[in-house]
Amino acid sequence: MPLVTTKNMFEKSMKEHFAIGAFNVNNMEIIQGIADAAAEENSPVIMQASSSAIKYARMAYLRKMLEAALEEHPNLQVALHLDHGPDFETCKMCVDGGFTSVMIDGSKYSFEENIALTKQVVDYAHAKGVVVEAELGKLAGVEDEVNVEAKDAMYTDPAQAEEFVKRTGCDSLAIAIGTSHGAYKFKGEARLRFDILKEIKARIPNTPIVLHGASTVIPELVEMCNKYGGNIPGAKGVPDEMLHEASLSGVSKINVDTDLRLAMTAEIRKVFAEDPSAFDPRKYLTPAREQIKKTVQHKIRDVFGSSNKA
Ligand code: G3H
Ligand code: 13P
Ligand code: ZN
Repeated sequence: MPLVTTKNMFEKSMKEHFAIGAFNVNNMEIIQGIADAAAEENSPVIMQASSSAIKYARMAYLRKMLEAALEEHPNLQVALHLDHGPDFETCKMCVDGGFTSVMIDGSKYSFEENIALTKQVVDYAHAKGVVVEAELGKLAGVEDEVNVEAKDAMYTDPAQAEEFVKRTGCDSLAIAIGTSHGAYKFKGEARLRFDILKEIKARIPNTPIVLHGASTVIPELVEMCNKYGGNIPGAKGVPDEMLHEASLSGVSKINVDTDLRLAMTAEIRKVFAEDPSAFDPRKYLTPAREQIKKTVQHKIRDVFGSSNKA
């Protein structure tokens, strides 16, 4: 099967109430780990690259590595998606470069500016059969010192979401309901605004909803990093139960980067700590790739519910 868009997988996710994992990719081992897990689980999957990932791995390598994954797993249902496209030019480059889906992240702009920019990307992408994810609302982290009132203002407004989708024609919408990027998402208890999600879903029931900043920050992986010389104290993410609830409540795409970073780093640290004489990259990248696979498989099977949905 060639690379697919997210259209069919999202439709099925909304009908059958499960979510599709969107995993950030930066190199071959990450792509292989994700592809192996999705193939074994017979699950649809999204591999996404940020503009800095594209700069790092280089466009042609990313595309060819996805092609290689499809050659190895002919039945794999996988979309190649641009994560957080910062401007029209980057989205255009990815549409022209073989991506099947792009995100235009206009969340830092005003409502009207976000609409205009998103519409421009939608018009270009749709003409070439590529789908578009947009974002409305702002994701804040605990590091952003904002008070409760300011934080409330960052959540996606359901009425605006409805107007936004109508006026832009975007295919899916990333919303802000309390998640944030990185390893430090909550100071105290994890809390997501499922009430806002519900209201948004009621207004735009046919628009797939996307959750960014949705890593669990898996405690075992953080512990492993710290045990073998790392220093990531107080890291905290979105618990599996909440992500599972989100996948049952209308979230179609769940973005994961931080957990993959932790998975890879934990295993590499372990090899170096236990065997300081190691210097063959295969010695530490093999367990790193295995841990990526294990982490992705756990999410697909136990949290997002997308096993056997390809
Ligand atoms: O949301 C951002 C993703 O985690 C990608 O991060 O721009 O460092 O590749 P990056
Ligand atoms: P995490 O940092 O929680 O993995 O979020 C990743 C993300 O949203 C990529 O767009
Ligand atoms: Zn994101």
